Amino acid sequence: MNDIDVLLQETRSFPPSAEFKAKAHVHDSRLHDDAGMAPHAFWAREAATLDWMKPWETVCEWTPPRAKWFTGGTLNVSVNCVDRHIHGPRRNKAALIWEGEPGDRRTWTYWDLYREVNLAANMLKRLGVTKGDRVAIYMPMIVESVIAMLACARIGAIHTVVFGGFSPDSLRDRINDCGCKVLITADGGYRRGQTVPLKRNADEALKECPTIEHVLVVMRRRSGVGDETFAEMQEGRDHWWHRLKRQVPKYCEPEEMDAEDVLFILYTSGTTGKPKGIVHTTGGYLTGAAATTKYVFDLKDEDVYWCTADIGWITGHTYLTYGPLANGATCVMYEGAPDWPDKDRFWQICERYGVTVFYTAPTAIRAFMKWGAPFVEKHDLSQLRVLGSVGEPINPEAWMWYHKVIGKERCPIVDTWWQTETGSIMITPLPGVTSTKPGSATTPFPGIKATLLDSQANEIAVGGGLLAITHPWPSMLRTIWGDDQRYVDTYFSKWEGRPDLYFPGDGAKRDDDGFLWILGRVDDVLNVAGHRIGTMEVESALVDHPAVAEAAVVGKSHDLKGQAIAAFVTLRAGFTQSGSLRDELREHVALKIGALARPDDILFSADLPKTRSGKIMRRLLRDIAEGRALGDTTTLADPSVVASLKDQYEAQE
Ligand code: WTA
Repeated sequence: MNDIDVLLQETRSFPPSAEFKAKAHVHDSRLHDDAGMAPHAFWAREAATLDWMKPWETVCEWTPPRAKWFTGGTLNVSVNCVDRHIHGPRRNKAALIWEGEPGDRRTWTYWDLYREVNLAANMLKRLGVTKGDRVAIYMPMIVESVIAMLACARIGAIHTVVFGGFSPDSLRDRINDCGCKVLITADGGYRRGQTVPLKRNADEALKECPTIEHVLVVMRRRSGVGDETFAEMQEGRDHWWHRLKRQVPKYCEPEEMDAEDVLFILYTSGTTGKPKGIVHTTGGYLTGAAATTKYVFDLKDEDVYWCTADIGWITGHTYLTYGPLANGATCVMYEGAPDWPDKDRFWQICERYGVTVFYTAPTAIRAFMKWGAPFVEKHDLSQLRVLGSVGEPINPEAWMWYHKVIGKERCPIVDTWWQTETGSIMITPLPGVTSTKPGSATTPFPGIKATLLDSQANEIAVGGGLLAITHPWPSMLRTIWGDDQRYVDTYFSKWEGRPDLYFPGDGAKRDDDGFLWILGRVDDVLNVAGHRIGTMEVESALVDHPAVAEAAVVGKSHDLKGQAIAAFVTLRAGFTQSGSLRDELREHVALKIGALARPDDILFSADLPKTRSGKIMRRLLRDIAEGRALGDTTTLADPSVVASLKDQYEAQE
């Protein structure tokens, strides 16, 4: 029996408790039913909970594959996330409760956030940033990162956040792809007791970034041993955040933005070597972010909400920044690693702040499981009431552990499926409604139409198929920055003559109850510890090394990370394989892309298995990497290649 069949025999079902239901925002099927019948009316109602400067004329204009939402309407995202909370009872409410890895702590109220966002917006203006300009943000997990995003939104600048774990090369490519004018960074950040030298990495990247005029540098290390010497400042180009802040006015008039103006670009991996700049706009994105945060997490004013994602990923955008702040929530933000200084750090944080809603990734849950329940049991987690999971399929064992050890069999688990491109959660339980099953993301969010199709676009009622979204939704991507054709080709060309069908790149199964079980990517995109990495990106990084002639990269199952990277490499003449070359190649990839892309296995081979037309047979490489019996090899140009590879791989293991 294969994994999929095992998964689909999962019959355990967990309805919400009567107590939970009684207090939940949504406790019956009416929201799903009404939104199903009239999705535009549902989204319009959610959009109306935001503060608009000018009301929209049309809810949705859909000319497949182009959607516009709330056309004619104007608003400002920073006003919705900050200003509108300071006029009422939320003025002195904690907006962000922050904890640094070394143990420094600080709480920002909505009023504090308001002041800081205004100052930061004026700093950007002082550096010449105006509406429509691009600003790169390369930061540790500190509150200034959120402030920087909101400051961009306030003046209508487009931010592109680059994960702090990415290499200088990755930062450079992203800055150049969208032509950023300003970079906001920090001298450094903390991770597992080490300092991440962000400013030094940025300096390296900026050697080849002609569009950058200024760099704004937050001093993170002020609380520790650091001083201004940790970062070298380039006169005229670089400015300390804390100094410039003293020189600008305290209030910044928010820019009136069209609902369809771009809010941000976020790069994500696809099937080519070049990451895609996913473009999100203002009104629709914020509507999706705010509505899903409220309903999926059953978010209330008294909640203490903690999403553990880094702001460098879409989850950090939608569920650490925009969604919760639009709802006026209290959010926890933590800078560092879950096992620093010890493996109970997350539970210590949950206990200290009384976290009620906790949202993390399966890869983290599997690590907690491995570390063991005693680290959890040291702490009082009785305030928790909703648990979330995102980023990759959660296996039923990890789901059950989350349910029992963290949730004490009391907290509904919401397994949320979505993507950088979708902007907000698409398939998910609602905690007061859905009877969850371990491993299933269950059913589409109200107002979302998702289904399973075969390659001919026939609907699959029960069984496996390709996931498809059949109607537009407010927070959908609008294009790929600078490459609109790729937008059409990647997402709306899977089914011939059907530009109305969005293809996310995932396969899924539907069970007899109509529940969806996401199986993972069906393209050449890997999901390593919840991070999306293109096989081609890793291959390009490998062939960039002088010793490598050709490389093929595949994913293999991994207990903790979900998938691990296995690379098959042929060497150029004059180079010989060795353990040290293997280590060097692994480091080379880490240097080119970032540590998250470092391959687990590298196998040297005289040849790679190819079809007669010269295409690398990745399917066979995956079989080898996973130690499976080899599939059909008859189409290979030289079947002996793969047999010898398999022997070598097994010898290496
Ligand atoms: C995968 C992260 C199964 C999926 C928000 C998707 C999931 C990709 C789930 C997007 C889930 C995300 N169950 N798989 N609950 N959530 N995925 O863009 O393959 O970093 O296409 O967005 O992660 O990754 P991205």
